[in-house]
Amino acid sequence: MVQLTLPKNSKVGKGRHWSAPAGAKKVKTFRIYRYDPEGTENPRWDSYDVDVDACGPMLLDVLIHIKNTMDPTLSFRRSCREGVCGSCAMNIGGRNTLACTHGWEEVPGGDIQISPLPSMPVVKDLIPDLTMFYAQYASIEPWLHTETPEPRTEWRQTIADREKLDGLYECILCACCTTSCPSYWWNGEKYLGPATLLHAYRWIIDSRDEATGERLDALEDPFKLYRCHTIMNCAQVCPKGLNPALAIAEIKKLMAERVL
Ligand code: SF4
Ligand code: SF4
Ligand code: FES
Repeated sequence: MVQLTLPKNSKVGKGRHWSAPAGAKKVKTFRIYRYDPEGTENPRWDSYDVDVDACGPMLLDVLIHIKNTMDPTLSFRRSCREGVCGSCAMNIGGRNTLACTHGWEEVPGGDIQISPLPSMPVVKDLIPDLTMFYAQYASIEPWLHTETPEPRTEWRQTIADREKLDGLYECILCACCTTSCPSYWWNGEKYLGPATLLHAYRWIIDSRDEATGERLDALEDPFKLYRCHTIMNCAQVCPKGLNPALAIAEIKKLMAERVL
């Protein structure tokens, strides 16, 4: 049973409040979206007064501190804690980012609000259901397509061809970009979204790949590619500093060139 993240300003119940331990000198309040598929008070905002001297500087440190010392029922994903796996992506202070690389002191304003990535179904609390996101990624067949017999050693590239993959291969599939894209909010089931399209371009321009035409054919559709309206939210939020909008523009350019 999954439930949709409510849009901004929609009605979310007032939740429970946890006070900081007596004697805490530096206290910050975190308001966290809660949804329990087996619970009855759904959804709601719970608030936690955290003794920030007792935990590390990152938002993920705060969440782990809350889970370990205040509320063990709080659920979130994390693994590498250093911006590599992409699993701790969430909406922090109104912006999609990685909890493990974002310091709570970097978030402007008073209380800090934390919710799951927008527009995706919620499995529990801060855990979005990314099934559709991964299915869309799989749909672009993110591996090398070749007809040429495999070389005995590795598939070689020139330095210049290899450099074309810079700014693309670094993507960690965190979904911060895709879930911040208004076009994806409106047409998520048909539009592939920025992360998947960035990967599509990564394979299209790979000098070793021999299916460029087929890859472009597969994107020639009014929704899969052309719902990008260059709003640029994707490039603004990417925690790895990538620019999916630029990759999308390059695919559109290749599409235009082949009809000329
Ligand atoms: S530039 Fe395109 S993909 Fe990026 S947020 Fe805007 S519409 Fe979405
Ligand atoms: S392009 Fe950036 S924001 Fe989008 S999935 Fe990749 S790493 Fe995350
Ligand atoms: S825990 Fe891996 S990116 Fe944050």
